[in-house]
Amino acid sequence: SHSIDLAVIPGDGIGQEVVAQGLKVLSAVLPEDVKLETKEYDFGAKRYHATGETLTDADLDALKQHDAILLGAIGDPSVPSGVLERGFLLKLRFAFDHHVNLRPSKLLPGVATPLAGQPEIDFVVVREGTEGPYTGNGGTIRKGTEHEVATEVSVNTAYGVERVVRDAFARAQARPRKKLTLVHKNNVLTFAGHLWTNVFAKVAAEFPEVTTDYLHVDAATIFLVTDPARFDVIVTDNLFGDIITDLAAAVSGGIGVAASGNINPSGEFPSMFEPVHGSAPDIAGQGKADPTATVLSVALLLRHLGYEAGAARIEAAVAADLSERGDAEKAARTTDEIGDALAVRVAS
Ligand code: IPM
Ligand code: MN
Repeated sequence: SHSIDLAVIPGDGIGQEVVAQGLKVLSAVLPEDVKLETKEYDFGAKRYHATGETLTDADLDALKQHDAILLGAIGDPSVPSGVLERGFLLKLRFAFDHHVNLRPSKLLPGVATPLAGQPEIDFVVVREGTEGPYTGNGGTIRKGTEHEVATEVSVNTAYGVERVVRDAFARAQARPRKKLTLVHKNNVLTFAGHLWTNVFAKVAAEFPEVTTDYLHVDAATIFLVTDPARFDVIVTDNLFGDIITDLAAAVSGGIGVAASGNINPSGEFPSMFEPVHGSAPDIAGQGKADPTATVLSVALLLRHLGYEAGAARIEAAVAADLSERGDAEKAARTTDEIGDALAVRVAS
């Protein structure tokens, strides 16, 4: 028999509500011989106000013991911008070397998109997760004066680029269309851009079956709207990936259904799964949040831990649930009702 030892971080705002539904569906989908153990952690705004802590070394040691982490959302208007982002979320991604930030986009039947027609959208963005402009490598001089200068240096290492590019090639190789697009801005960012382009070409030689393609990030935003069907797997840097995955979510059902995995492929540290959306304090506590993104993140979690059947079951349940309900019914359902409906489907 197997077991899953899960760290659960509901966090702030709607995080609490959506994580409860994610766990409900997870319990329902697991076969009886798989034992699920969960331990809840109280990270987020409340803990920050009470103790001044965001994520301590002791916290990291505790989290390290688990098989995986399920996160709701962290962030609250009462905490200055950047404190929880850097002090919690990015700290955790960096400490656990989550260099593969996996963000699939699939437009499911019956799901509204702002795009004309009903284009085929089924691609996955592999966003680098530990480098680029996110490393905090910068500074300010003459702060607050008219002559202030601020730098925010993008850090790109051959090691870091190669491992994420190789991961993306392997993912493309495993998909039917076997296509990988590198997205960067190598016409302007000639240092980092050339590193990415050269590493991409080198690794491509190991994957002769994968068709490759390159787009500047600005052009990629055009095609994500005008021809999203052209994409299969995209690999890109941390900041470009942040931006294009919000766009990708917007065209493929919205952030209510956008899931993500912060993955440490070697398994040296636990990977973390979270909806792409934030804590949405404006609708928190009202049962209005869509837990689908969290439920789909649970599917990514199961797939990562080797429970492919359970992951596929959850994805099929979400697809069926969304295609069988009219728009009015979708809008009227509470967070809990959506979780219940999905739990019933995965169990049956
Ligand atoms: C995301 C978020 C984070 C990011 C923020 C909250 C630090 O936007 O997960 O996409 O920029 O990575
Ligand atoms: Mn983002």
